[in-house]
Amino acid sequence: MHTQVGILGGGPAGLLLSHLLALEGIDSVVLDARSRESIETTIRAGVLEDHVAQLLRDTGVGDRMTEQGSVHHGIELRWSGRHHRIDFQELTGGRSITLYGQHEVVKDLNKARVEAGAEIVWEAQAVEIEGIETDRSTVRFRTGPFTDEIRLQRGGELEELTCDVVAGCDGYWGPARQAIPGSVRTEYERIYPFAWFGILVEAPPSSEELIYALHDRGFSLISTRSPTLQRMYLQVEPDDSVDNWPDERIWEELHTRVETVSGAGLVEGTIIDKSIVGMRSFVSSTMQHGNLYLAGDAAHIVPPTGAKGMNLAVADVRVLTRGLIQRFRTGSTEILDRYSDICLRRAWKAQRFSWWMTSTLHRHPGNDPFQLRVQQAELDYVTGSTAGSTSLAENYVGLPLELPSLEGLVNPV
Ligand code: PHB
Repeated sequence: MHTQVGILGGGPAGLLLSHLLALEGIDSVVLDARSRESIETTIRAGVLEDHVAQLLRDTGVGDRMTEQGSVHHGIELRWSGRHHRIDFQELTGGRSITLYGQHEVVKDLNKARVEAGAEIVWEAQAVEIEGIETDRSTVRFRTGPFTDEIRLQRGGELEELTCDVVAGCDGYWGPARQAIPGSVRTEYERIYPFAWFGILVEAPPSSEELIYALHDRGFSLISTRSPTLQRMYLQVEPDDSVDNWPDERIWEELHTRVETVSGAGLVEGTIIDKSIVGMRSFVSSTMQHGNLYLAGDAAHIVPPTGAKGMNLAVADVRVLTRGLIQRFRTGSTEILDRYSDICLRRAWKAQRFSWWMTSTLHRHPGNDPFQLRVQQAELDYVTGSTAGSTSLAENYVGLPLELPSLEGLVNPV
């Protein structure tokens, strides 16, 4: 099998890249170790910056999002019995975010790619990436389904994909990043001393907008998925377990943490999913080597408090698409050579914002009262100052996207 762009990873980054490249007549093959069903049902965050929502619409994969997603014009912050609305419209010149689950975006992209006859190989585990410093890279992979028995039977049998360029969209744990020699790669990491306990609830929304709350007992977040399905989170210890959280305990804790404002009720419902996610910040610098380019979580992870994960992945993919168009149309690698620099500038600003939201809104270990008072003052300052609120709002809806221009060629979306 040979293709122009071998894409490792069939999550939002890999699928969107394949989709955008196809619109420009560039061939790709997508490999993912997971099954289609598992990718399409794994629950992730669901906040889309306006440029992401617009891109999905402009490229023909936004119909369901437009129909089922909800557009939000602000968020609410709560702390110390106070509440404040950050008004995106007023502070950012009419901008907004769209609430639509990441796995729904994946479903829409999968459907569009499959209908267009794309080559997506699920349950295909890449085990070797070779030749990224040459003009022809080889990805060796093993196909599933991966029961232990089949793994044994298959022994050393590997299939091969050769490609001009490899796109590593295979997440934090995938093999693509490891194919960049350690001698040219620096990794920056912070692991936070808390985790999020997330629930999916069959209930009407508790609030028209997302609520981020800092309470003496820790952080909580009320988010939404649809008029009948809600997403809520509680800060917990990093080693906590779902088994420690019967439904009554979850509701009691959420009521305590969220209802710092009288009359701001939380609507309970049937909990249909419970999970715990760890929180880390991570950046790989560089994001490229030879003909290998990393995008999304393979290159950087943000804690979910700023809701930036998928948005950053989409920004990477848009830059990469332009670089690849230039390369395949003209032979010039001028944009691709700057790929990592362009993406890391945005990624570090998203890191800063996500770290700030996380540090400001969570209870830090040790219960240091000074630390908590400083956080409360930070929220008081940000919400009381136009400069502070504008800074939060413009980061939340997304900083301006700087896309390299394709001079002489039509600029794609
Ligand atoms: C979500 O809806 O899952 C969500 C929303 C906002 C965040 C993180 C997650 O900051």
